[in-house]
Amino acid sequence: MRIGMLTGGGDCPGLNAVIRAAVRKGIQHHGDEFIGFMEGWRGVIDDVTMPLTLETTSGILQKGGTILRSSRTNVKKVEGGFEKCLETIKRNKLDALIALGGDDTQSISLALSERGVKCVGVPKTIDNDLSGTDACFGFDTAVMIATEAVDRLHSTAESHNRVLVCEVMGRDAGWIAITSGIAGGADVVLVPEVPIDIEETCRLIKYRREHGKKFSIVVVAEGAKFPEGTVATHDESLDSFGHPRLSGIGQTLAEEIEKRTGYETRSVNLGHTQRGGTPTAYDRMLATRYGVAAIDLVHAGKFGQLVVLRGTQISSIPIADAIAKTRTVGQDLLDVLKSLQPLKDAV
Ligand code: F6P
Repeated sequence: MRIGMLTGGGDCPGLNAVIRAAVRKGIQHHGDEFIGFMEGWRGVIDDVTMPLTLETTSGILQKGGTILRSSRTNVKKVEGGFEKCLETIKRNKLDALIALGGDDTQSISLALSERGVKCVGVPKTIDNDLSGTDACFGFDTAVMIATEAVDRLHSTAESHNRVLVCEVMGRDAGWIAITSGIAGGADVVLVPEVPIDIEETCRLIKYRREHGKKFSIVVVAEGAKFPEGTVATHDESLDSFGHPRLSGIGQTLAEEIEKRTGYETRSVNLGHTQRGGTPTAYDRMLATRYGVAAIDLVHAGKFGQLVVLRGTQISSIPIADAIAKTRTVGQDLLDVLKSLQPLKDAV
């Protein structure tokens, strides 16, 4: 079979591991041929490709980023975008197209499936918020990086008796924040799922100081927000490409904490460091399983499906189901966090 492959949206560690696994399985077990489209859907619209062979995909398992490059090009926003994609797919005589990406990317896979293209999706989002799958590769790596940062912030916060606010990625869901926050022993964790309670945040920080701990660590997801009409919310403007900017909520929050408590407060935004570099062993493993499963779906003729992890097993679901809603942090994890904090009426 002739199979096209692309990576869309924000990059994340593990994309190359998926590409490598799919190419190895496809070529060595089925005699498939692969065409890599460059820079996400942009490469399909403009027919910009690279050969994906055993040679071009050799030595990439450990590499962060994506050899296919990525972009947030949205076919829906390009004039004649779908027609151009269909022409490219026809010109390259593709039997199937595998798209690695989050909900934006998969919404295009779905739209192309509805136009007769044989698509298979591989879930990718560092935010881990795609529903239908229990895990996305790249998330474990991001959590490891964020946890190490939280660990490191402890000693400098302690040396200076400061509050340190650490902003992590997570626009619509706080998976990186809650996981790195609990794993790193943060005192407060704020996520998009729950409006920021600034009074409770300051109470926890003051409680620590009154009980001898003169420093505190706060982890905040970039998408966390103050309740409407309270603290002026951070910048939500779009960049010149029409993409949302990283929020900067950490800085706003640090200023508010300092104002209300009188404690010296600093903020750090981990930003794209969370997306860079080599994937963890867990992410390489998951990505490899996804790559193999994508080829299995293609050869089983199961199109319009997304490979997913359910518990410990790989399976698949309709792409439409995965993009229908965001997978948010559940009450169970929020309760674990609360269990580690002093009760509201503690003195
Ligand atoms: O969508 C994943 C994500 O990592 C978000 O958490 C973050 O806001 C965004 O990507 C950043 O994207 P960009 O690389 O376009 O700035």
